Amino acid sequence: MSGRLASKVALVTGGGNGIGAAICKRFAEEGATVLVTDIDLESAQRVAAEISAAGGKAEARQQDVTDPDRWNSVLDAVVSDFGNLDVLVNNAGIGTIMPIEQETLEGWRRMQSVNMESVFLGTQAAIRVMKDHGGSIVNISSIEGIIGEPLVPAYNASKGGVRIFTKSAALHCAQEGYGIRVNSVHPGYIGTAMVADAIGTMPPEQALAFQQELLTRIPLGRLGEAVEIANTVLFLASDEASYMTGSELVVDGGYTAR
Ligand SMILES: NC(=O)c1ccc[n+]([C@@H]2O[C@H](COP(=O)([O-])OP(=O)(O)OC[C@H]3O[C@@H](n4cnc5c(N)ncnc54)[C@H](O)[C@@H]3O)[C@@H](O)[C@H]2O)c1
Repeated sequence: MSGRLASKVALVTGGGNGIGAAICKRFAEEGATVLVTDIDLESAQRVAAEISAAGGKAEARQQDVTDPDRWNSVLDAVVSDFGNLDVLVNNAGIGTIMPIEQETLEGWRRMQSVNMESVFLGTQAAIRVMKDHGGSIVNISSIEGIIGEPLVPAYNASKGGVRIFTKSAALHCAQEGYGIRVNSVHPGYIGTAMVADAIGTMPPEQALAFQQELLTRIPLGRLGEAVEIANTVLFLASDEASYMTGSELVVDGGYTAR
């Protein structure tokens, strides 16, 4: 198959829903063989089946990104089944609204584990299998990794960690001459279940006010679509971004431009 990712093998975590599912589909449209992994196997299987039905190549695997052993077994299986791994997208994540005075240590640790430690585990495991032939690692951070938001301190910390960790890993790979590029993507507010669920935890009047005010803060006047993030990730994953490493691409409808 021709395409911008022709003959590449890509693994996308949290690929069963939202932004991850859109990334899997765009990658497959551009010729990649896609490993759709998710803690929820059924959702990953659904996305892989949709890709196959559209003529693409995809398989689903169950993977909890917080499990270090699972990272090694999934990546070893990718290498033995498909020859190598060219692209890893660390996309899986969670988001909860919990101001600092209400946040618990347990909630804080869970957020850092799913959103940030997983990116360390995935990047480390991918470097092991990519370092002989090169590759591209794309870490999904957030605008919340660049600016503060009082409703989500644990999320802010996790995404800020992903941002600067990405630069550190990129510098290491460049220094070692591995041919592995590592970049981060920073979506603004995208219309997925994560945003809807988080807003849904607010009392109804607060949720309505938050949504109305949110749109006034987005210069383009609307939420983003998952495919608009997928297109950016596709660029970084492809050889078109061959001179980009350690960089951060913000895709937020202008939210952070003010
Ligand atoms: N939606 C937004 O506005 C937005 C903005 C900025 C950044 N992001 C980031 O984009 C990524 C995807 O978000 P989304 O909006 O598509 O969310 P989503 O909730 O729609 O999908 C997240 C997926 O991750 C999976 N997942 C959750 N925990 C997991 C775990 N431990 N192991 C493996 N899979 C797990 C879920 O099952 C789900 O399929 C996240 O990292 C999120 O923080 C989202």
